[in-house]
Amino acid sequence: MEDTIEHQSANPSIKGSRKAVLVTGGAGYVGSHTCKLLYKNGYTPVTVDRHYREGLKSYGPVYNIQLPQEIDRLEEIIKRNNITSCIHFAGSTSVPESVANPSLYYKNNVIVTVALLDKLIEYGVKTFVYSSSAATYGDPGFRKCRETDVANPISAYGGSKLIMEMVCKDYLRAYGLSSVGLRYFNAAGADPEGDVGELREHETHIVPLAIDAARHGRTFKIFGDQYDTEDGTCVRDYVHVMDLADAHIKALNYAYNNEVSEVFNLGSGAPASNKELLETVQKHTGKMKIEIHENRPGDPAYLVADIDKVKKVLGWEPTQSSIDNVVATAVQWYNKTHKKEIQ
Ligand code: UFG
Repeated sequence: MEDTIEHQSANPSIKGSRKAVLVTGGAGYVGSHTCKLLYKNGYTPVTVDRHYREGLKSYGPVYNIQLPQEIDRLEEIIKRNNITSCIHFAGSTSVPESVANPSLYYKNNVIVTVALLDKLIEYGVKTFVYSSSAATYGDPGFRKCRETDVANPISAYGGSKLIMEMVCKDYLRAYGLSSVGLRYFNAAGADPEGDVGELREHETHIVPLAIDAARHGRTFKIFGDQYDTEDGTCVRDYVHVMDLADAHIKALNYAYNNEVSEVFNLGSGAPASNKELLETVQKHTGKMKIEIHENRPGDPAYLVADIDKVKKVLGWEPTQSSIDNVVATAVQWYNKTHKKEIQ
């Protein structure tokens, strides 16, 4: 496939009167769910993504672009589509990879963001929503994280996200960029209608890996069971990807109607340990073999969100984030995308 192809949406009802939103990484996991919801809410998502593959569902124009190398192509895209705002998902997202290769994370997450913001400012786009992460908190101890807590990342992934937040604060003061950073906790689950879901080349996340292990009769490895938690395994806050998508639309409107530089936690506020999560997976897939391995570098024991701020300011509520629904929709997506392999 030629790398400058523009894919028009399969959906013919997109009209010029819809508000166009530039979405970087719109072919990725949270990006594709957000594009679908943007479309349903009357926006046209204009995706730029170097990972777009034929057959991936799209909800607006898609441009195959490598950032920051092809950043100059944004001028034409912004002008042609009358872009007035941007949601920025593109970046690298694996904590263990960032520990091993920090250079990649500072390049892909920080340098790309600065180059993108400079282009947006140049062409008058001053509303910006971006993926931040719970990894900015580092290892916060055993209480729910609040946005006012001191951020102290323990991985280059978390460090790169924190720098993005700092850049946005400075860009508000200097250039009037209005931004919202969304600190995702553990994004999981899939579109209940089965149009989009989690598909990565190198998967490291527990939910898809556990489903895959169960389906193939492989042993699943839990990284550590001697943490200072109730059952000894790490505790995480799983938030359904459709709830995340909804938060991006609320954040977009908030950033558009105000001149701010804010960050919000996005979690369910309802924690699950790795063992509890695996029990839920087994409820939906049948029994699997589990082994305990050593701790994974960069993993905090407990990472749970306080979501009071986002509820109050954006009026957001997680409605699909029960652990059972997260796992059920992930299993449904897995079954749909792995039909040929599973007997
Ligand atoms: N885990 C296993 N075995 C596996 C994979 C994961 O036991 O094969 C464990 C991890 O050690 C961790 C938990 O499952 O305790 C969750 O791990 P994930 O890789 O699914 O997710 P992370 O908690 O590492 O990542 C999440 C978010 C990031 C955020 C990070 C902060 O996806 O955005 O938390 O640590 F930065």
